[in-house]
Amino acid sequence: MIIAPSLLAADFLNLQQELKRFDGINNLWLHLDIMDGHFVPNLTFGHPVVELLSKMAKHPLDAHFMVTNPEFYIDTFKDYKIHNFTFHYEVFENNLPELHRLIQKAKTLYPSVGLSIKPHTDVSVLSDEILKALDLVLVMSVEPGFGGQKFMPQSLYKVKMLKLKKEQLALKFSIQIDGGINEQTAKEAIEAGAENLVAGSAIFKHSFENTASAIKNLIS
Ligand code: DX5
Ligand code: ZN
Repeated sequence: MIIAPSLLAADFLNLQQELKRFDGINNLWLHLDIMDGHFVPNLTFGHPVVELLSKMAKHPLDAHFMVTNPEFYIDTFKDYKIHNFTFHYEVFENNLPELHRLIQKAKTLYPSVGLSIKPHTDVSVLSDEILKALDLVLVMSVEPGFGGQKFMPQSLYKVKMLKLKKEQLALKFSIQIDGGINEQTAKEAIEAGAENLVAGSAIFKHSFENTASAIKNLIS
């Protein structure tokens, strides 16, 4: 099980200190929500902030691109030691050849490549061919754009379907879920087959000292 704290819920004035919360914690990725104000209404942080984070982060960086032009980010984030590069299926739903091309391109530059689906995108759009090419599938359990929203239980069905597919075809992708994860929904997600949990508010609402126990409570 991997836990991926989302820095969206961190104190942006003290990011260096916020990263220290995770010192000595294993099986942890740092989840970076990159939003462009077009694919989603919100804007977060981009190149200068991620470049600085990459210099001091001790954990793998997991970048979730909620952007209309992932190729620009594939090209321009390649020196920031991003471990996993995830972008959204919906950007290319009418242009699947382009989707395949970008997955392949990202694979040449990043160790792990993920594809995300929004709550109203059916899991069946992810063909066997797409799934075979991926290292990770990110099921959004809230509408992307903002932290602190309520978990959408319909997402559990998608996780179950993906787990089934993964087993049937013996595929390597891992199943990540993002949005509204707390102690209760984490249990449900793990039971459904999620292997990687993104959590923002459920971790950062706790004091610095209680970070490790907050993470433990999510996965136990
Ligand atoms: C939403 C982001 C999430 C968000 C999760 O668009 O993709 O990563 O930070 O926040 P919580 O865990 O508070 O729902
Ligand atoms: Zn995210």
